[in-house]
Amino acid sequence: MLESIRKAYLPPTQWPCVEVDEEKCDGCGRCVKTCPMEILRMRDGHPVEEHYFDAFRCIACDSCVAVCPTGAIERKGLYRVLEGKYRNTDVFPGETDTLPKPFGDDTPQRFEDYEDRLTETERVIFKRRSVRLFKKEQVPKEMVARVIESGRFAPSAGNCQPWSFVAIQDPEVIDDLCAKTERMLNLIVGLAFPSNREDFVRRPLHQKLLATVLGLRMPGNVDQRGAVGAKAVYEHSHHGLFLGAPTVILVLKDKRGIGQVDLDTALCVENMVLAAHSLGLATCLIGLMNIPIRFYPRYARKTLGIKPPFEFFTAIALGYPKGECDRAVKREPARIKWIV
Ligand SMILES: Cc1cc2nc3c(=O)[nH]c(=O)nc-3n(C[C@H](O)[C@H](O)[C@H](O)COP(=O)(O)O)c2cc1C
Repeated sequence: MLESIRKAYLPPTQWPCVEVDEEKCDGCGRCVKTCPMEILRMRDGHPVEEHYFDAFRCIACDSCVAVCPTGAIERKGLYRVLEGKYRNTDVFPGETDTLPKPFGDDTPQRFEDYEDRLTETERVIFKRRSVRLFKKEQVPKEMVARVIESGRFAPSAGNCQPWSFVAIQDPEVIDDLCAKTERMLNLIVGLAFPSNREDFVRRPLHQKLLATVLGLRMPGNVDQRGAVGAKAVYEHSHHGLFLGAPTVILVLKDKRGIGQVDLDTALCVENMVLAAHSLGLATCLIGLMNIPIRFYPRYARKTLGIKPPFEFFTAIALGYPKGECDRAVKREPARIKWIV
């Protein structure tokens, strides 16, 4: 029984890992600062991977690869759950990740060798990364409005346009939201997210049960990659919730929309994100923003103005990137069933 619970919550997993070419590395430390899981540390002038506990590992986002100015970092391997309910080794065995292959097998190996054959839109799509290195400099209001303008022209079911926006540039509100999130995460993660198997066994029965119920009922919310991302935000954080971005745009969804309001609003968000990168800005979606919204409803209503029929959908951290952050990285291949 305990074993099957453990497999649902902290299943045996094969994690990706980060490899550093010390000859090429100039010790700038950008990779350490950008890693959302905060698993990289500088040792003797070079980054090394260090794990605080079992599941505190690389999620293959390649943020470190993207920001490295000397191309010294390579990420190897994919996230694979080896046993239990969420095993994913047998679905597409032997698959490897690749750089974008817009020309199929005729695509050259290096992105630089075919970048100029891409359309402007493809270039932004392939090179956009979630950025976690922001300058302090504020984004002018006109630029923020211009980003939102691209959201406004997203497709939506029945053209219902079920979105609205809250643009936050007041540092006090941003700091307040960070503090509220850290406080709540501390409580939730401390209560319900054992950090490894030994920790799980050591926990009192009610915490074991809580972790188990969450693991079985809400796997997406306690997926070990998300859980350790949350832990990174409050425990060893040099980031804070909004990663130092000077602007945060909340995107709200209108519950009165037609059909799939979530899909409509996600399309709106992606339009905004791509437009921002095409303008030389940087973005990162902040899923954990739902924590202060959920646990401080009065603050959400009074200070942020989130009222029915609108509901919080997501937050976009926005700012100018510190150095080069956008770059094409590898992704798992498309799983396509052709019917021709
Ligand atoms: C819905 C959603 C929520 C996310 N939340 C966070 C977050 O809270 N913090 C963070 O650093 N990155 C967050 N991300 C960014 C993902 O980690 C990132 O998209 C993923 O690793 C792929 O990397 P890329 O965006 O550079 O391609 C989020 C992304 C999405 C789509």
